[in-house]
Amino acid sequence: MSKGIFLSFEGIDGSGKSSQAKILARSLRDHGHTVVLTREPGGSPGAEEIRKLLVEGEPGRWSPETEILLFYAARRDHIERTIIPALERGEIVITDRFADSTRVYQGAVRSDLRETVDDIHARMIGFEPDRTFIIDMDPDAALARGLARNSGEDRFEEFGLEFQHRLREGFKELAQTEAHRCALIDGNREIDEIAREILRLALELLV
Ligand code: ADP
Ligand code: TYD
Repeated sequence: MSKGIFLSFEGIDGSGKSSQAKILARSLRDHGHTVVLTREPGGSPGAEEIRKLLVEGEPGRWSPETEILLFYAARRDHIERTIIPALERGEIVITDRFADSTRVYQGAVRSDLRETVDDIHARMIGFEPDRTFIIDMDPDAALARGLARNSGEDRFEEFGLEFQHRLREGFKELAQTEAHRCALIDGNREIDEIAREILRLALELLV
């Protein structure tokens, strides 16, 4: 489809994805690349509006089925307006979360709807990241980091610690079944050490 390179970060809430996505974007720019750093849900004006519906309010506000449709409405807008145009310009796109979040949060942990997610993905998106960094870490420590931010976007954190443990297992399983594109990264380390490993893996794709 494109000349660019598409990278995603995944993992439980507070695992350090946003921090690592930012550091990687900076490092790749230092290497002379043009990088678009984006996120989900969001990443385009319309998708950012949908984001507010998803990350704010009561945990029971939406059923898993409704969530899947809202995340995919946002994702479709995100690829149309932000991701595909940048890849067609030959740029590197780094997204903080993408479809693997829906596969694990809605498809495996909130409900057993993985097939539905994969069907919608095939029809509405039709491509995967070139490389996905799944940051794995202890949910107790990650949840403490996440809630400490107090951003008002804590709807998913409020599902609780047991939910985060199940997410961690879901992401680990995905890293195995999608091993050709997913790298499982140990997030229980110093930020800089994690960043060095991720940069090394990203640069491998660029040679
Ligand atoms: P996520 O995007 O996965 O929710 P963030 O990157 O926002 O995670 O990190 C959550 C919090 O943890 C932030 O306050 C961040 O500064 C801190 N943090 C991120 N990575 C690490 C790390 N390796 N060690 C300690 N703290 C970290
Ligand atoms: P995000 O802002 O990345 O949260 P955090 O920085 O805490 O990791 O994402 C918002 C929440 O939306 C997060 O709890 C995960 C959830 N989410 C899904 O449940 N499904 C999805 O498809 C996506 C993209 C996110």
